[in-house]
Amino acid sequence: MNASLKNTTPSHRSGALRTGLEARLIARPKGLPAPGDFEIAEVAVPDPTPGQVVVRNMFMSLDPGMLMLIAGEPGLPMPRYEVGEVMYGDAIGEVVASADPSLGEGDLVMHRLGWREYAVARAGLFRRVDRDAYPTPSTYLGFGLVAYVGLMDAAELRPGDTVFVSSAAGATGSMAGQIARLKGAARVIGSAGSRAKAAYLTEKLGFDAAFDYHDGPIADRLREAAPEGIDVYFDNVGGDQLRAAIEVMNPHGRIAVCGALNRQSKAGPDEGPGDLLGVLGKRLTIRGFTLSDHLERAPEFGAQFRSWLREGSIVHDETVIDGLANAPQALLDLVKGAYTGKTVVRLGS
Ligand SMILES: NC(=O)c1ccc[n+]([C@@H]2O[C@H](COP(=O)([O-])OP(=O)(O)OC[C@H]3O[C@@H](n4cnc5c(N)ncnc54)[C@H](OP(=O)(O)O)[C@@H]3O)[C@@H](O)[C@H]2O)c1
Repeated sequence: MNASLKNTTPSHRSGALRTGLEARLIARPKGLPAPGDFEIAEVAVPDPTPGQVVVRNMFMSLDPGMLMLIAGEPGLPMPRYEVGEVMYGDAIGEVVASADPSLGEGDLVMHRLGWREYAVARAGLFRRVDRDAYPTPSTYLGFGLVAYVGLMDAAELRPGDTVFVSSAAGATGSMAGQIARLKGAARVIGSAGSRAKAAYLTEKLGFDAAFDYHDGPIADRLREAAPEGIDVYFDNVGGDQLRAAIEVMNPHGRIAVCGALNRQSKAGPDEGPGDLLGVLGKRLTIRGFTLSDHLERAPEFGAQFRSWLREGSIVHDETVIDGLANAPQALLDLVKGAYTGKTVVRLGS
């Protein structure tokens, strides 16, 4: 099912006047949104005024965190989506008109003006990136950097650690497990929502062990996969996986809280980590982190990631959804577990 399609301008998609689609939130849902809470509108794309550029977006990122911006949850490190306004999110595109000397036509740029086919804004909001760095520009939207700073800064990964990653077949988790191994973890364990995804983790991504979190008590599955206990937990989920991880952690273990998929997927409160006596007794560290505090790691990570890709020592999988009109439904399908790897939307097709 698509979001409603609205035409606010005469259709000139093949004519002289450039038009493009944009997605707006039109109602703030209680609980998870429905496609009818979004509107896809065709609008005229203005020429750039001095200092501005026009960017034709090629791909935008879909991230479960967008559900919390839709719900307008308090306490998030970024502004919520406003009803009646175009939403935002990471995107990559090509400059098609420029009225600023810092960017020229044909430049590939990353920015935060997703959920639209064309972005028109001041040049400073766009960051030029290297066209030849990756086989496809969508790779720039991957969450490898999130995984990297979560492991290196929040979890303070050490060689020899046993690492557990939840939502391990997703965008961040698939990177976290592989990067942990590349950075010297002795054993990497992943959880995911189906046996097929668990098999993907061990057979394609090189995890040492993986399990379906629906398969009985999570702490039991974790103990079987890590008989010596775990030292690092990369937490994408919260809830029962966090409680199980605390139970199975070794003394002085470290937990990096990256995401909240348990609450994002049901748009309801999370039961939290439970009794904290285990945290105290084992002197555990639980540290939340957000990528925007660690952007200085980007060049170092980019160089390593490109070299791992060249050597074939890391797998970067993507699910590509075609067309902005399909993005709202795809965001819901994403948190229902329909996809693996990083989910992106191809725009303008
Ligand atoms: N801290 C930061 O700076 C930062 C940056 C980016 C993203 N994040 C957050 O990190 C988390 C992961 O993001 P992502 O883009 O990599 O998402 P993702 O893992 O690709 O997200 C989708 C997956 O969530 C899983 N899922 C849904 N409900 C679940 C539940 N109740 N329990 C366990 N798994 C569940 C599903 O996998 P299964 O099929 O395995 O259930 C689904 O495939 C999100 O919470 C996101 O908001 C944080």
